[in-house]
Amino acid sequence: MILLDGKKTSQQVKEEIAAEVKAIRESGGKTPHLAAVIVGNNGASMTYVNHKVKACQMVGFNSSLIHLNEYITEEELLIKIEGLNKNEEIDGFIVQLPLPDHIDEQVILLAIDPIKDVDGFHPTNVGKMALEFPTFIPATPFGILELLKRYSISTDGQHVVVVGRSNIVGKPISVLLSQKADYGNATVTITHSKTRNLTDITKTADIIIMALGVPGFLKGDMVKDGAVIIDVGITRVKDETKKSGFRLSGDVDFETVSVKASHITPVPGGVGPMTIAMLLKNTLLTRTMKRI
Ligand code: GUN
Repeated sequence: MILLDGKKTSQQVKEEIAAEVKAIRESGGKTPHLAAVIVGNNGASMTYVNHKVKACQMVGFNSSLIHLNEYITEEELLIKIEGLNKNEEIDGFIVQLPLPDHIDEQVILLAIDPIKDVDGFHPTNVGKMALEFPTFIPATPFGILELLKRYSISTDGQHVVVVGRSNIVGKPISVLLSQKADYGNATVTITHSKTRNLTDITKTADIIIMALGVPGFLKGDMVKDGAVIIDVGITRVKDETKKSGFRLSGDVDFETVSVKASHITPVPGGVGPMTIAMLLKNTLLTRTMKRI
């Protein structure tokens, strides 16, 4: 079994980005600048956003963290977004999800200028992705593709089973892997909480992408020998033995699945760090992205 080391691979991607930033600076170009908006104090979201800001520092980007009160109104948040859209210092920005219930996520995502939408969540960019126009690929699917590429795991003609249908992971990775492209050409089955006989389906998969958010859901008896397992789940599970009071758990029962898998991502240290690296990559891509 080969461990797909997202920590090491993301480090390589970040080193490449850092070299590009250095070259931009040396040729008199402007330092890339990523901003992140977070609303409220959700512990997991704050950790992710802080990782994103720290990663900016590592590659030589400028970064701004805009931490807003959880009671901010939708109108006030829209004004902040308009400010970021207009701010020429900022190349790209993200609004960390989920947002508090009183704020309509769709209204907020629609307000982000697609040319600065480095998450690739704006409907214009989702449409472009689906139609294979140049655009920002959402960072988590982008990170999965990059990990497969760097470990030379071909998806060509493979049966990929995606478990989970979220806008952030399940939907976009299904579209990307079925496209006529390098690291596409897969036969994709998208499954979810209402899928019947899920085990019958996962057992036929050459590659399984778990993006359900249910700790330890995928067990060894649901997987065929030699399958490639990508675990996108990252849930905080109570653990009194840890100083923080929790540990991070993936959607895969690592103990029983890893003995059958040919390749598997760990949690933490798999897809998570790749997501951050690819967000930085998207921020660099703002330099060449055309408004079409
Ligand atoms: N919440 C979970 N993943 C993501 C992500 O990739 N981007 C944003 N903005 N919010 C998230």
